[in-house]
Amino acid sequence: MPLFKKKSRTASLQTETPSVLPRHIGIIMDGNGRWAKKRNLPRQAGHAYGAKVFRTIVKHCEKRGIGYLTVYAFSTENWARPQEEVDAIMNLLRDYLKESLRDFKKENIRTRFIGDRGPLAPDIQELMEEAEASTAHKDGMTLNIAVNYGGRHELVHAMRRMASEAAQGRLNPDEITEDRVSDYLYTAGQPDPDLILRPSGEYRLSNFMIWQSAYAEYVFQDVLWPDYTTEALDAALKEYAKRNRRFGGI
Ligand code: IPE
Ligand code: IPE
Ligand code: MG
Repeated sequence: MPLFKKKSRTASLQTETPSVLPRHIGIIMDGNGRWAKKRNLPRQAGHAYGAKVFRTIVKHCEKRGIGYLTVYAFSTENWARPQEEVDAIMNLLRDYLKESLRDFKKENIRTRFIGDRGPLAPDIQELMEEAEASTAHKDGMTLNIAVNYGGRHELVHAMRRMASEAAQGRLNPDEITEDRVSDYLYTAGQPDPDLILRPSGEYRLSNFMIWQSAYAEYVFQDVLWPDYTTEALDAALKEYAKRNRRFGGI
């Protein structure tokens, strides 16, 4: 076993960052509704608290030296929820966007939004564009916020673009490779997620990064997202550092 690996496995996360770090982490921020229900609060309160935790975890990932963080904030299926809840989530997104434009100038985080923006309110779409433009030059962590995102939707969108370019003679079907397909996804140019975290005690992907996660490591954690802590993130990093990724080899 190479020495550097051995060393990283005994690293104490209390005091230092492990050397076997995922380059890209995906987080399915789940459990807001159940957290609120346990407290006899409306589900919206869970989303509001979850949004605070999101801010803390983003900063922590940046501090730990993570290159890419993708958070699942709203899925293509979440429109099925009561209008009141959808509106509350969109308002929290609006608040975050305004706050980030106002206060996050000092942070070295490049913010991107992945998903289909078309159905979102026009002011939210504009704020997203502003947030992306104002952080495009940052060279610290890349933060992808998945809003109206669905892995299948992303693939359909990519396939349509490829088919249309092929029909116009601009894409040769023989040149469609795995790498080429990745170029048509919202995450084009970014490494695939190495580690996907799902708190809340559910053991499923729920349509999150289904192409990109082919060889991701999963850590399912039995904690509701509003109760998620920097310690829980560190525990997942520690678990990841112990995994033996083989990618089909031996
Ligand atoms: C995740 O929490 C947030 C979104 C899906 C927008 P949930 O709202 O799904 O919380 P639970 O799973 O019902 O507890
Ligand atoms: C996945 O959570 C979507 C987000 C966290 C944004 P859901 O709560 O929508 O997933 P299911 O319905 O439990 O699969
Ligand atoms: Mg849920």
